[in-house]
Amino acid sequence: MVVEGGVVAVVLVREYDADKDRTAVEEVENKCEVGPSGELSLYTDLLGDPICRVRNSPAYLMLVAEMVVLGGGGDEERREIVGMIRGCIKTATCGTKLSRNGKNCTVKPKTPQLQPVPLPIYTKLAYILGLRVSPSHRRMGIGLKLVRRMEEWFRENGAEYSYMATENDNQASVKLFTQKCGYSKFRTPSILVQPVFAHRLRLDKRFTIIKLGHADAETLYRRRFSSTEFFPRDIDAVLNNKLNLGTFLAVMKGSYDADTWPGADEFLASQPESWAVLSVWNSKDVFRLEVRGASRLRKALAKTTRMLDRAVPWLHLPSAPEVFRPFGFHFLYGLGGEGPNAVKMIKALCGLAHNLAMERGCGVVATEVASREPLRLGIPHWKSLSCAEDLWCIKRLGENYSDRSVGDWTKSPPGLSIFVDPREF
Ligand SMILES: CC(C)(COP(=O)(O)OP(=O)(O)OC[C@H]1O[C@@H](n2cnc3c(N)ncnc32)[C@H](O)[C@@H]1OP(=O)(O)O)[C@@H](O)C(=O)NCCC(=O)NCCS
Repeated sequence: MVVEGGVVAVVLVREYDADKDRTAVEEVENKCEVGPSGELSLYTDLLGDPICRVRNSPAYLMLVAEMVVLGGGGDEERREIVGMIRGCIKTATCGTKLSRNGKNCTVKPKTPQLQPVPLPIYTKLAYILGLRVSPSHRRMGIGLKLVRRMEEWFRENGAEYSYMATENDNQASVKLFTQKCGYSKFRTPSILVQPVFAHRLRLDKRFTIIKLGHADAETLYRRRFSSTEFFPRDIDAVLNNKLNLGTFLAVMKGSYDADTWPGADEFLASQPESWAVLSVWNSKDVFRLEVRGASRLRKALAKTTRMLDRAVPWLHLPSAPEVFRPFGFHFLYGLGGEGPNAVKMIKALCGLAHNLAMERGCGVVATEVASREPLRLGIPHWKSLSCAEDLWCIKRLGENYSDRSVGDWTKSPPGLSIFVDPREF
């Protein structure tokens, strides 16, 4: 509560009410940069639905901070939305345990008695995103209040851990979470962003790309990826969501094609030496991004490369994407593969995803992978559009939960890969 010259101001945190709050929340969102403010800043356009970034999660909540100002006489009352936060909860992998008998295996061993295989250990995991405080109301404790109220909801709903992602150089958010809210720095994956050109990319002819049905994709992901950190146990809900544009598998030409595809079970029972997979998520229909703050010269240069690329697409000019006005993107998730050609196959799959994004009018294609992900070498991206260190911070919400075989996840070392849920990007 603030009292100044007879004027009393109180900040209330309450659940978002779409009918009442939509316009005000969009106004705050429009004023708030995402991440650190610099010469160029990123803004989001939520396409009229402030809850869009969490609504595909199994459980979600959006809170708003409302400033209530009472005038000197106490009879005038003014209300203003000055901040908001979104949160969601799901069940995800936080570690693995070894199975000796092949029972409930995620990967069927060839000799079940001899070969222990990793089984996922799941936890109830909460995620905080879209925390915004109006620039005119910062450093008044509103961000902290929003996080604390969101954590109360997480605890009430049995979440064991809460995590959030921010740019490493976003001082305000890093300090808020690590110094005031008890989070610790956990993982530093990279966001890799590939521009969508005006020309199609040529794909490596040595590979065949097969679009998998949802059931096959689910089998493949559960068997091969469920022991990867952050793998969502409701992967079926992700794959069956209308925003999922498909799961694509690359194999050597001559091994399988769409007509001879034997199904995921048989494929996994006798895998070819090399293969790779990824899925495409249509973030373009969820929200748009916009880069603000660029000079006229920079914008004009980008526009010129774009016009040239459109005029002579056969020259394959690497034109700058149209990011200075709201643009949509596709998100690549569930990247994986094995064998000596897996990196090249991932590159081919990214090429396919680029062409799909081009047909659907996206500005960029983005993905997020662990800092030591072996397949990242195959992911085309522009450094200037990417974020080498996205910082994920984590907090254990309760000490009463059993450690089971994983111990305290917040203290565990990173693996080679993480599974980035497209619903939370
Ligand atoms: C990050 C953000 C939500 C903080 O909101 P806020 O209401 O200003 O934060 P609070 O007043 O509750 O600050 C709590 C603590 O966070 C830290 N903090 C907040 N802003 C800071 C800043 N600009 N620089 C350094 N530390 C800061 C401080 O430790 C502060 O405590 P103190 O004021 O006692 O020193 C706000 O700056 C914002 O909306 N930024 C743009 C969007 C964004 O980056 N969101 C985070 C994405 S996860």
